[in-house]
Amino acid sequence: MSPPHNFAFDYRLNFNSITENDFVRGVGHLKDSPVPAYAINTEHVITQWNRACEILTGMPASAMLGTKNQWQPFYETKRPVLADLVVDGDLCESIQHYYPNNAHCSLLMPCTYVGEDFFPRMVHGGKWLQFSAGPVYDRLGNVVGAIETLQDVSVQKHAEEALLKVHADLEQLVIQRTAELMRRNDELTRANEQLITLQQQLVQSEKLASIGQLAAGVAHEINNPIGYIFSNFGTLGQYLTQLMDMLDAYEKSESLISQAAVRHDLSALRERIDLNYLKADIPVMMRESLEGIFRVRQIVQDLKDFSRVDNAMEWQIADLHPGIHSTLNIVSNEVRYKADVILAFGTLPDVECLPSQINQVVMNLIINAAQSMGTARGTITIRTGSTSETAWIEVADDGCGISTEDTSRIFDPFFTTKPIGTGTGLGLSMSYGIVSKHHGEINVDSTVGVGTTFRITLPLRQPI
Ligand SMILES: Nc1ncnc2c1ncn2[C@@H]1O[C@H](COP(=O)(O)OP(=O)(O)O)[C@@H](O)[C@H]1O
Ligand SMILES: [Mg+2]
Repeated sequence: MSPPHNFAFDYRLNFNSITENDFVRGVGHLKDSPVPAYAINTEHVITQWNRACEILTGMPASAMLGTKNQWQPFYETKRPVLADLVVDGDLCESIQHYYPNNAHCSLLMPCTYVGEDFFPRMVHGGKWLQFSAGPVYDRLGNVVGAIETLQDVSVQKHAEEALLKVHADLEQLVIQRTAELMRRNDELTRANEQLITLQQQLVQSEKLASIGQLAAGVAHEINNPIGYIFSNFGTLGQYLTQLMDMLDAYEKSESLISQAAVRHDLSALRERIDLNYLKADIPVMMRESLEGIFRVRQIVQDLKDFSRVDNAMEWQIADLHPGIHSTLNIVSNEVRYKADVILAFGTLPDVECLPSQINQVVMNLIINAAQSMGTARGTITIRTGSTSETAWIEVADDGCGISTEDTSRIFDPFFTTKPIGTGTGLGLSMSYGIVSKHHGEINVDSTVGVGTTFRITLPLRQPI
């Protein structure tokens, strides 16, 4: 008897005259192989089921040999295993169908296929197997069956999975940490922006406070001289009237002067100075000058009211209406040529506030309203009113309006839609700061092409 070929490793060899018996003999060596393996013939009937395969699958050879139940240890329902596909040949389609992603042609051996999969039906909650199947040939090169070997790779797989999980966990952690860092960064950026805004508002209110101080100082200095000019002017008026009366009396008595030369000199003088004109013009000039002095007095008063600098930083219980009037007077030059101002004042109880700062807010709103006008003359309406706990001031215009997109940005420092030199973009941000300091609100309602209404609402008393 010739020594048996080791078919377990040599089944690909194409011997000249291998018989069915040789096949059985050849694969007979599978029996002792430590690698779990089984063989089927061309009828898909199991011809070998080695000891290692019994251990791996838990199925005794006695139950498997002679049957076509090679699917049973692995699948719920009957279906071909890799060895079945090899026996049938032409694996192109079938392998795609039965092993779409987990089996392919071996790079090592032609006509041999390898695959890997998890088999949940197998013992201990399922197993990961690597399997390979290849044909067995007879001496003439005909396929007479197939051998499939199996390898339990569960331990490696589980290690691999654990590693993947650790990796995924780590990645998740990195993502979380990154998100956390970005959130912190956002917070810091926001805090920084708030600081910048605050600083700008401080600078701006410092600036306004010093402008206010200057204005108040000037007003105070002018106040005195204007005071005595005003009172002297009154007296001067009276004196002039008396002088005129006297002059009339002299004129009437002129004809009684006997010396012709004196009469002639007087009449020549009267003509030279155009006495009649003087008499008519002096009262007019007096009236106009008095008007001028009145105006200067009013401006001085407005400046004083507006800045209230003596107690600019002191909270007061104040009537806001006089402040609105003086503010309007101060900005009248900005408004006069662009819009008519309508005052619709309601009842306004005294409000606990920093009056000069509220005046500044009102001034910003009025100037913005005036600047919103196009070429056509518009109307600015200033309304006031109150509830039991709040007072409100509204400045409404029929100017260009604010787009929805811009509305969210108008309170940002330096946001301006005006040409350089006209707008600084600080008016509203500063106003917002002042109103917030008063625990109040500033709201805007605007329609492009129709107009804008700003409303500031202030609590009558500051929270303690
Ligand atoms: N009454 C208004 N009508 C139309 N747009 C306005 C009005 N008030 C404010 N805005 C818009 O808000 C922007 C910011 O206003 P503001 O902070 O006062 O800065 P500035 O007046 O210097 O531009 C203005 O440039 C303008 O686009
Ligand atoms: Mg402005």
